[in-house]
Amino acid sequence: MAKLIDGKVISAAVKNEVATEVAALKEKGVTPGLAVIIVGEDPASKVYVANKEKACEQLGMASFKYALPENTTENELLELINKLNNDSSVNGILCQLPLPRHLNEELIINSIIPEKDVDAFHPQNVGKIMIGNYDFLPCTPAGIMEMLKYENIEIEGKECVVIGRSNIVGKPMSMLLLHKNGTVTVCHSRTKNLKDVCRRADILVAAVGRANFVTADMVKPGAVVIDVGINRLENGKLCGDVNFAEVEPVASYITPVPGGVGPMTIATLMKNTLTAAKKQNNI
Ligand code: GUN
Repeated sequence: MAKLIDGKVISAAVKNEVATEVAALKEKGVTPGLAVIIVGEDPASKVYVANKEKACEQLGMASFKYALPENTTENELLELINKLNNDSSVNGILCQLPLPRHLNEELIINSIIPEKDVDAFHPQNVGKIMIGNYDFLPCTPAGIMEMLKYENIEIEGKECVVIGRSNIVGKPMSMLLLHKNGTVTVCHSRTKNLKDVCRRADILVAAVGRANFVTADMVKPGAVVIDVGINRLENGKLCGDVNFAEVEPVASYITPVPGGVGPMTIATLMKNTLTAAKKQNNI
């Protein structure tokens, strides 16, 4: 039976630390502020954005929400971002992805100044992560690293397999594991013998976006299994990328969905907003 890595408990600990620092900053007259932009009506995105707002409120930060209609033009969105870039009460700017198809995601991401890019999606911040000398942690991967640290799970010298090569999770995740001296393999849709590669993993990170993708035969007995997926089933229930019922008896540690990686992403976002506020105010 695997030990459950509880993202709610660990994120609460991180958020507590952030809240203490926010209170100290406020004494100096600085209230960290996060602007969240959402375009369109994607139901999952709406939930994520609401959770981000709620976290700001819990931690004493200011949150500014911009819910724009689906037919927002690129220029309108760029204008808003430009305004926020120049607003000193806004320390972090996040544009919820995915954007509607008529908007150029890369252009929009690149228009957020790196100093306020609390997602760490701007090429300058991505480059810094690659080098290992970064201001902002990529939210989901950093949240996962925090979970591993909390559980005293060693990374050095371990076989780490990341399934998925997205810019948001897979690629930065592989970098953070590499910085901690893991031996990292990144798998994707063209990987041959995926099952065999996954079975090598001491630490297996699933960021595929397909419900129940990782089955028991893909997991080495005693492996640490991290499930990044948030998939909604036809019956409305949330489900990860890992077949939890099958894999849990094989793994040594496993993250649940919901209540695993998701809350950690938000905790890191709060940390990044605090970092941004401190840097922008030379604190
Ligand atoms: N969509 C899914 N995850 C994320 C995230 O971490 N940041 C943003 N901006 N959009 C997302």
